Amino acid sequence: MRDIYKAVKVTDKVYWVGVIDWTLKDFHGYSTHRGSTYNAYLVLADRVTLIDTVKAPFRDELLSRINSVIDPTKIDYIISNHSEMDHTGSLPEVVDILKPEKVFASKMGAKAIASHFSSIDVEAVEDLSELDLGGLKVKFIETRMLHWPDSMFSYIEEERVLFSQDAFGMHLATAERFDDELPEGLLYEEAATYYANILMPYSHLVLKLLDRVTEIGLAPKIVAPDHGPIWRKKIGWILELYKQWAERKPERKVVIVFDTMWKSTELMARAIAEGAIEAGASVKLMSIRSSHRSDIATEVLNAGALVVGSPTINNNMFPTVADVLYYLKGLKPKGLVGAGFGSYGWSGESVKQIEEILKEMKVELVGEGLKVQYVPGEDDLEKCRELGKKVADAIGR
Ligand code: FEO
Repeated sequence: MRDIYKAVKVTDKVYWVGVIDWTLKDFHGYSTHRGSTYNAYLVLADRVTLIDTVKAPFRDELLSRINSVIDPTKIDYIISNHSEMDHTGSLPEVVDILKPEKVFASKMGAKAIASHFSSIDVEAVEDLSELDLGGLKVKFIETRMLHWPDSMFSYIEEERVLFSQDAFGMHLATAERFDDELPEGLLYEEAATYYANILMPYSHLVLKLLDRVTEIGLAPKIVAPDHGPIWRKKIGWILELYKQWAERKPERKVVIVFDTMWKSTELMARAIAEGAIEAGASVKLMSIRSSHRSDIATEVLNAGALVVGSPTINNNMFPTVADVLYYLKGLKPKGLVGAGFGSYGWSGESVKQIEEILKEMKVELVGEGLKVQYVPGEDDLEKCRELGKKVADAIGR
């Protein structure tokens, strides 16, 4: 096998052998315009171990990187920390080619892998159990629902490396492999986007996990996730950000999301934004036509208010607005205040429909939603400006 692809040394005993997916633009509905990586790690102990694999089409790149360090058939064990297809898609073929002695996963992981790939025999490991690799030991820590039932961490005490699967990851394709090789602003943006779109619904579990990491006494000097850069300098920084995002203390920030038919709802949105700015809030005005739902979710992550506008079309809100609202509802952002608004021609159901979904999301509505027939006049725009002010003032009350 030619070593086109090279492994990257993480510690004396651990190598990155993952792949860079430069062209990925969508990850099950989440816009990944900067691509991604599927990280896998080779552990050089007496029992040579591969931690996670990669998406199916990238199998050869994974094997090539392993081959740059060691003959891949020398791999004794494979540990699967997470059974989603971006990390196990190539597992059946890798097992078939390498014939490892054993494949390990959590109990739920063993079930998930069995239901996806009946050909693979998986040994289930218990929470906090250890696997002796000969010279190194791996401790397994279950992280159920972060973000699948099977998810777990693996920790090598001797190297102080925590393999954290999706947690602390980001969809970011780069030539650089480590946090300190990349600008902090970029790391923040992509880590926040990842948290908002993947982990936000499980924030209560994130808080428990952060406490548990301390209780168990893990003190990693390397955090090696399954996507994006490896953390070696900013571990405290990313842990603190996770704590902040999980606690979701709303900032004085108003996110206004809208679609528009003939610019009337847009005029209302802009007037609401002016009112919120006047009240001293930070504002993000997002037209759904130019903002992807996953970017809207990222803005909501630290917002205190969500205001949603839609015209009425055929007795309904715009389908684009319904898409964003249902997506946000699934992500369960907590502690928001908000309102609905929109222009209509003759029936005007959209605002009520928006309010119903906002209520289902447990968003505290600030007054009645604003409906304007056809085109907003000066008085209507003044009411919009007042609504923006009221929403901004209601944050954190
Ligand atoms: Fe990266 Fe949940 O898979």
